[in-house]
Amino acid sequence: MKSVLVTGGAGYIGSHTVQALVAQNTNVVVLDNLTTGNREAVMTPHFYQGDIADERLVREIIRKHQIDAVIHFAAKSIVSESIQNPELYFYENTEKSCHFFETVVNEGVKQIVFSSTAAVYGTAQDKPIPENEEIKPINPYGESKAKIEKYLHLMSTVHPIRWIALRYFNAAGASLDGTIGEDHQPESHLIPLILQTVLGKREVISIFGDDYPTMDGTCIRDYIHVLDLAHAHILALQSLQKDQPLKQNIYNIGTGFGHSVKEIIQTTEHITGKKIKQKIEQRRIGDPPVLIADSRYLQEHLGWKPRFSDLKTIIETAWKWFEAYPNGYKQKTRVQ
Ligand code: UFG
Repeated sequence: MKSVLVTGGAGYIGSHTVQALVAQNTNVVVLDNLTTGNREAVMTPHFYQGDIADERLVREIIRKHQIDAVIHFAAKSIVSESIQNPELYFYENTEKSCHFFETVVNEGVKQIVFSSTAAVYGTAQDKPIPENEEIKPINPYGESKAKIEKYLHLMSTVHPIRWIALRYFNAAGASLDGTIGEDHQPESHLIPLILQTVLGKREVISIFGDDYPTMDGTCIRDYIHVLDLAHAHILALQSLQKDQPLKQNIYNIGTGFGHSVKEIIQTTEHITGKKIKQKIEQRRIGDPPVLIADSRYLQEHLGWKPRFSDLKTIIETAWKWFEAYPNGYKQKTRVQ
């Protein structure tokens, strides 16, 4: 492989994937407009601040760096924001991605990995979800990503491209050395919010509903370590490079096991040694009770295996990052 263009490489999952690619000596070029990403998270010298819809810039990067594969992360990804502002999500995610893929394909790039989401399934049933489950998103975020998957499929019927979309379940954790991690502004994800409570940056962690039909009444999710996610992208790229037909284009990434909100809080208390103040609130709109991935095809076809996705490693690595950088990348000074 000559070079890989990673859009959104300054974001949470993007930056960990860039770090993994660099570690295996791949030449990586990042394009990120930094509206939500962080420059400090980018572990390659080849960085362009710009938009995926900037056709001239995208062409220039592909030519200059002889790009032969792209991993496309750049997107808006806050479900509640998408409900309030659907047009923003259709424009930023769907429209811009279609335009970006068109440019990339016209420049002769043939290998595409696309960052998709479990949100395409909507309110799925109480069992591990396989990739052939019906696509029924219940929010504009999921809808905006489902449309891009469809677009890639249609493009591949008329262009000689090879593509894989990875549907993430709940990304969590941080790099093992604690140098990069999760930093969303504003933060809406469970584990960072719990850790901010431990650090005293929040008074209390809200539990959105304890009357779900689950073992302790709180929602169950399939938490997947960001390093295992990053590795799946590398395996997807490798399979695109092989001279063999792809077995399928879309893969779930999850562990096949779920943890409840209360279980996450208890494990965090155990790891940090701090009691966490919690309060039960109303259910959050659009939260399915259980979301667990059936990832058997990712394991069977691409040889993927989760290595860091046990809850202990997820929370320990996230805690290491939050303890060292309580203010995230904005004031990235390591606390001793
Ligand atoms: N939760 C709380 N309190 C909080 C925050 C979250 O109880 O303060 C609960 C939620 O209700 C949910 C669980 O913790 O049951 C996980 O919530 P997150 O916000 O961390 O993650 P989601 O499952 O809502 O979202 C994830 C991804 C999205 C993706 C979605 C697919 O982050 O990008 O899965 O359903 F769209």
